[in-house]
Amino acid sequence: MSLNTKRFVIAFLSFMFLLALLLVGYMEGNKRVMGHKAEIKVPDDSKQCVECHNIKTPSLIAQWEDSKHALKGVGCMECHSTEEGDIDAWEHHGSKIAVVVSPKDCSKCHSHEFEEFQKSHHATAGQILGSLDNTLAEVVEGSMAHGIALNGQSPAAVSGCLQCHGSVVKIMDNGKPDPATWPNTGIGRINPDGSKGSCAACHSRHSFSPKLARNPENCGKCHLGPDHPQKEIYDESKHGVAFRAFKEYMNLDAQPWRVGIEYTAAPTCATCHMSATETQAVTHDVGDRISWTLRPPVSEKIDAKAKKLGKDVLSWEDRRENMQDVCMKCHSSDYVEGFYTQFDAAINLYNEKFGKPSTHLYKMMKSSKLLSDVAFDDELEWTYFYLWHHEGRRARHGAAMMGPDYTQWHGFYEVAERWYMEFIPQTRELCEEAIKHGNASEKKAAHEVLKELDNILNREEHEWFIGKMSDEEKARRKAASEEFKKRYVQD
Ligand code: HEC
Ligand code: HEC
Ligand code: HEC
Ligand code: HEC
Ligand code: HEC
Ligand code: HEC
Ligand code: HEC
Ligand code: HEC
Repeated sequence: MSLNTKRFVIAFLSFMFLLALLLVGYMEGNKRVMGHKAEIKVPDDSKQCVECHNIKTPSLIAQWEDSKHALKGVGCMECHSTEEGDIDAWEHHGSKIAVVVSPKDCSKCHSHEFEEFQKSHHATAGQILGSLDNTLAEVVEGSMAHGIALNGQSPAAVSGCLQCHGSVVKIMDNGKPDPATWPNTGIGRINPDGSKGSCAACHSRHSFSPKLARNPENCGKCHLGPDHPQKEIYDESKHGVAFRAFKEYMNLDAQPWRVGIEYTAAPTCATCHMSATETQAVTHDVGDRISWTLRPPVSEKIDAKAKKLGKDVLSWEDRRENMQDVCMKCHSSDYVEGFYTQFDAAINLYNEKFGKPSTHLYKMMKSSKLLSDVAFDDELEWTYFYLWHHEGRRARHGAAMMGPDYTQWHGFYEVAERWYMEFIPQTRELCEEAIKHGNASEKKAAHEVLKELDNILNREEHEWFIGKMSDEEKARRKAASEEFKKRYVQD
């Protein structure tokens, strides 16, 4: 062959190869739009559902057709069918079906995820009725009064708390759920069959897309706001920054989805709390990797309560190791240990300097009736609530997930202001009032509280406030302040 012929043959072959690639690409592209429909398997007992709902609710069918369920022959009846005796069964075009699809329904095929989820704190999130916050929803902000309550529920709870925490789903005589309790995909929903939670809280129907479940926005429906701003903290952290910058490389659709293998650019909430690594399986118990609980007025290790009750649960050390296994797919072990040292120190600071003293004083005033039994009728109760429930949590959550602005300006700064500028003056005022006008036992209690406050303020971490900073500390602060001023002096 001459050189020219060789060139022609190479060019021709390359052209044909490119053409083939384009053709395959075109077919693949089309498959997403129309191929699925040809591949999906509609079980016989779901054929009429699909046909009619394709007209009545076409988007719902399109989403189902896009799911792996449709490809594997999991039709409408696999999830919506009912059993003899189900109280939520109703007759619909010749079939007995239920609207509510509970975790127990999913467990027919996903028993492993079901069991992990049922033992998690997520599953028990519906049990908030006796909580202090619930007094807000049913008494302070909301109401159970005749003419206001919705079938015996406070509307503030129905559209607020319970949309995150989960309602107790009640079924009416016609087999349909009571609108005071439904629609609801709260994470700890209590279902008519007794199972806890809602898988649809994270797995939006009817696509049940893992991509959606892995997105931080998914957890952000509930994990945000003044008392648990995990979403905002993540967004401002370097992890969130990297996620937004490199989202297209995150391979969010991959199955499996292991950090360090299918993706490397950034962790999402799911990466750290749920998803797999090379050595760890996916977990549906979001408590499996956290060592503290940062929710109560004073933080404690996550297994502390269970241990006290003599229950055998995963130890906080093991949980921490699980999380560190995730971190170490991207960071060195020294780096990760260093982070945990900083994090533990911040929790200790909050607990020792603010959480424990405020809780101790608050309990003294409550038990001695200096504060009434009624929740939220005294200013000091609101002050204390803000201190631990809002600001104290923000400081702790910021430190847990690398959000320095939440640790500082939305956190410790506001905790300190609340403690020194409100909690202490209000405590003093309350006690002085009782000493002036109270009965003998109130007077006695007030003196005790003031004495305890005095003890607390004389501790090293608070003595600055009563003008007792040590000479050594004063000298150190003065030297540092002079250093700082020099930076602004031109010479
Ligand atoms: C002939 C048409 C038709 C058929 C067949 C049909 N549906 Fe429906 N379905 C409807 C309509 C219409 C609604 C009510 C929509 C509305 O009110 O906007 C509905 C409502 C529903 C609801 C929600 C009820 C509620 O209270 O929110 C579910 C769940 C449902 N269908 C599932 C199914 C299943 C499963 C099948 C197959 C066994 C099926 N449907 C068959 C037309 C149909
Ligand atoms: C993998 C399980 C699953 C499959 C398969 C499934 N559904 Fe559902 N469906 C759900 C869940 C979960 C809900 C939300 C109810 C809940 O939170 O319990 C729901 C809710 C509904 C609703 C009422 C909610 C709304 O948005 O109006 C309709 C109607 C419905 N499904 C119809 C269908 C039809 C028709 C099919 C078949 C094409 C189907 N479903 C297949 C799980 C499923
Ligand atoms: C009748 C059996 C069956 C039921 C009931 C069922 N699923 Fe599935 N599910 C499957 C099968 C099969 C697959 C595909 C598994 C695979 O390909 O690895 C699947 C896959 C999934 C996936 C992964 C999807 C993906 O794209 O990778 C999720 C999430 C899921 N199911 C959630 C649910 C939830 C939530 C429910 C209840 C509302 C439910 N399933 C009910 C059989 C079922
Ligand atoms: C936007 C969703 C959302 C709303 C609305 C909401 N919560 Fe929560 N709640 C959460 C999340 C998320 C947590 C866990 C925070 C964490 O782990 O830091 C939580 C934690 C709690 C806890 C602590 C549970 C424990 O085990 O320590 C209680 C009690 C509580 N909420 C009650 C309520 C009440 C009562 C209301 C209504 C007045 C309410 N919540 C409104 C999302 C919500
Ligand atoms: C707190 C959110 C959340 C809840 C609630 C939840 N899931 Fe998941 N689920 C996820 C995430 C995130 C993934 C993706 C894990 C990964 O990265 O592969 C997932 C993955 C899955 C998969 C795919 C298999 C796998 O291991 O990747 C199945 C099946 C599944 N979930 C079923 C369920 C069932 C059944 C329930 C209810 C009992 C449930 N999920 C509740 C977040 C959730
Ligand atoms: C529908 C609301 C909702 C969604 C969505 C949700 N959560 Fe939660 N989560 C809660 C509530 C409420 C609690 C507090 C439960 C309690 O202690 O009673 C909680 C608690 C937690 C905890 C503390 C667990 C423990 O053992 O103490 C972690 C960690 C967590 N969620 C992570 C996640 C992640 C990650 C996602 C997303 C993949 C997510 N959550 C999605 C509502 C939600
Ligand atoms: C880089 C990993 C990482 C990412 C990303 C991440 N977290 Fe965390 N999260 C942690 C660590 C570490 C802790 C504290 C663990 C401990 O207690 O040992 C924590 C603690 C928590 C807690 C417990 C708070 C409490 O009150 O006890 C919740 C809830 C939570 N994360 C939710 C989320 C949500 C929602 C997102 C996404 C918006 C997210 N996390 C993103 C690592 C991460
Ligand atoms: C998927 C990889 C990945 C995982 C998993 C991961 N990180 Fe990171 N981490 C990063 C990236 C990327 C950065 C940003 C680096 C930069 O901008 O220089 C980062 C930054 C950090 C920083 C520096 C924050 C700052 O503001 O300077 C700390 C601390 C950190 N990670 C700790 C952790 C801990 C602890 C875990 C586990 C709980 C973890 N990371 C999990 C990728 C990861």
